[in-house]
Amino acid sequence: MIREKEYNIPNTFGLKARARHFVEYASEADLLSLLPVEGPVLHMGAGSNLLFMGDYEGTVLHSAITDITPTEGPAGEVLLRVGSGVTFDHLVEHCIRQGWHGLENLSLIPGEVGASAVQNIGAYGVEACQSIHCVEGVMLDTGARFSMPTAECRYAYRQSIFKQELRGRVAITYVTFRLSREFRPQIGYGGIRQAMAEQGLDEHTLTPEALRSIIIGIRRRKLPDPDVQGNAGSFFMNPIVERSLYEDILRRWPQAPHYDVDATRVKIPAAWLIEQCGWKGRAMGHAAVHAIQPLVLVNMGGATAREILALCQAVQQSVEERFGICLQPEVNIIHSHPTMLP
Ligand code: EPU
Repeated sequence: MIREKEYNIPNTFGLKARARHFVEYASEADLLSLLPVEGPVLHMGAGSNLLFMGDYEGTVLHSAITDITPTEGPAGEVLLRVGSGVTFDHLVEHCIRQGWHGLENLSLIPGEVGASAVQNIGAYGVEACQSIHCVEGVMLDTGARFSMPTAECRYAYRQSIFKQELRGRVAITYVTFRLSREFRPQIGYGGIRQAMAEQGLDEHTLTPEALRSIIIGIRRRKLPDPDVQGNAGSFFMNPIVERSLYEDILRRWPQAPHYDVDATRVKIPAAWLIEQCGWKGRAMGHAAVHAIQPLVLVNMGGATAREILALCQAVQQSVEERFGICLQPEVNIIHSHPTMLP
């Protein structure tokens, strides 16, 4: 177990923020021995989806549980129980090496396994919840342990019970993934099909390794590397709106893209809305809207959290004024003291 005071919190925006206390636990027993924690608590993963508005005046918890245990599941499936502190991309790589399939499209997503189950991370036509079998954790107030089957986790687009009713109340210790020994690639995303065509591959000749390298290629082309330019991936969620609102938009912008969600709702790419408002590549202070993927806000070097938040709010205001749509941040905004939390 690691305990630090006044600890610099790692975060991919590259912002300076310190935790009054930082505790990293390596097992469930370690975690239970810490509870109850006095004062405000924030449980974090790798800091790749967080915007710290200042120092955190409480305890930051981090999981360093990293064991991975496979068991045989039904129908040629593997149930893989994975510690919440495992780096998600290491898991993807490990599974491909072992011949366990389902996570290939989630290659190179930053962050750790625990957060993947909170955020329901997704990319290129696949969401984590499609492979999650159950989530284990501990209630931070009582120390009670739980194991929640996927059906109870209320998964939806970038949503889960852990971001809603249980927000801030649990520590996830293990996530069990249900993976297949058979490779059934998800190649519906246009960019994947295009790359396959360029490489002369079809669904029969595509290997898991080739799919992973196609995904990595697309991400590297479109998304800024946080080691070079601070960012937290998509800053906003793609809004899901009533079809009637989308039809109003279509009358003025006949090219407006969308994905069908159900009979009454569509998802509109926030990147398109932001680009229409003229924000693509624009800076405000030391923060900017990324020039290739406008859904990403970047720290151009020396940005403050306030500058990034001011840019977020300016973008939200423009999109609201122009389209009547309120963009919701996907990034979690962490205020110094929980009394300021929404
Ligand atoms: N678009 C524009 N202008 C641009 C870029 C994109 O209009 O400059 C429009 C295009 O219509 C394009 C559409 O936006 O077809 C979608 O763009 P893209 O495929 O790049 O994905 P996205 O919807 O912007 C989402 C996820 C990403 C994920 C990609 C790929 C969210 C919030 N973001 O972005 O996830 O990698 O799809 O599946 O859902 C993340 O969560 O951090 C993340 C990067």
